[in-house]
Amino acid sequence: MDVKRVGIVGTGSFVPEHVLTNFDLEKMVDTTDEWIRTRTGIVERHVASRETSSSDLGVEAARQALKDSAIDPKEIDLIITATITPDMFFPSTACLIQSRLDVPHHIPSFDLSAACSGFVYALEVGRQFILNGTYKTILVVACDTLSKITDWKDRSTCVLLADGAGSAILKEVKGDFGILSTHLAADGRGQDLLHMPGGGSRYPATHETVERGLHFLKMKGNELFKIGVRLMARITRQALSECGLTEEDVSLLIMHQANIRILEAVAKRLEIPMEKVFVNIHKYGNTSAASCAIALDEAVREDRIKEGDIIVLCTMGAGLTWAAMVIRWGGIQMKGSR
Ligand code: ACO
Repeated sequence: MDVKRVGIVGTGSFVPEHVLTNFDLEKMVDTTDEWIRTRTGIVERHVASRETSSSDLGVEAARQALKDSAIDPKEIDLIITATITPDMFFPSTACLIQSRLDVPHHIPSFDLSAACSGFVYALEVGRQFILNGTYKTILVVACDTLSKITDWKDRSTCVLLADGAGSAILKEVKGDFGILSTHLAADGRGQDLLHMPGGGSRYPATHETVERGLHFLKMKGNELFKIGVRLMARITRQALSECGLTEEDVSLLIMHQANIRILEAVAKRLEIPMEKVFVNIHKYGNTSAASCAIALDEAVREDRIKEGDIIVLCTMGAGLTWAAMVIRWGGIQMKGSR
């Protein structure tokens, strides 16, 4: 009996035009291009203008994914948006994106909050809806503007964070292609390692919360680094073994681009050579939920992925949340062009 499989049939990505280099940051905080490059791998990042929001980036990435898949936007029957920097608390960023696309204006649309793991979480939620027969064609959009919650006086975070969006369209695919397994995980006990305390119901916005800097992202980077490496390596192994594969079968490992040293350390633990690890952190920094989505889109555009390749998406972020997804690429026709 044929197993029903869900695959990614189109991808897109978008980053704001303005590029902030390490040299620009040297003028803003006590840091150097050399420190940022050697400690993080980041050379430059894209930062949204004051007027640009997460949904603005998400809409552009979604349009590209629709074009790439050559799917009629009218076929989309669900939108899931992964973001931790929504335009506003409500309505959801997914509803705002829906309003600007040529999709049916009655389809369910909702946001999902899993920080840097948001794209993989959203893909898996979408996959389940297709597997159980509820929806057929799902638009996943991962968009974040971390620059809007960055303390530009804190050198330990402002050199890392950036803005961008990525998108993917999910549909049933034929043959033994598509998503083979997914592992999602979370440990709320790690909430203080990475969070933004202010603005919610715990600390609603007041003059005091602004003065105390509670509306900025706070991160214990050093601790996260060590935990992240362990968790990402472990969950990748779990996801691979669930579908009877090993690290040796991996054609391309696409990880959340948080720090080049994290990517290298995870690859080393998994004994996967760096030639099989997708790296674009030097251009974009850490774009949160968008990170894996942009990387996947670039890998497709750069012909790094061939029919039959085993691709692993692997992420870790605030929550703590972490996730891995194994995909056998193919069984689809990307008719569109950009
Ligand atoms: N420029 C110069 N010096 C700096 C800078 C900077 N930008 N930032 C920190 N330093 C200094 C520190 O003050 C410290 O100085 P000290 O030794 O005099 O105290 C020194 O550099 C070393 O600091 P560490 O924090 O130990 O540096 P580390 O090598 O760990 O790098 C970093 C810090 C880049 C934050 C790293 O820990 C990291 O990438 N962590 C993981 C981030 C991550 O994965 N986040 C999760 C996902 S993100 C999300 O979900 C939004």
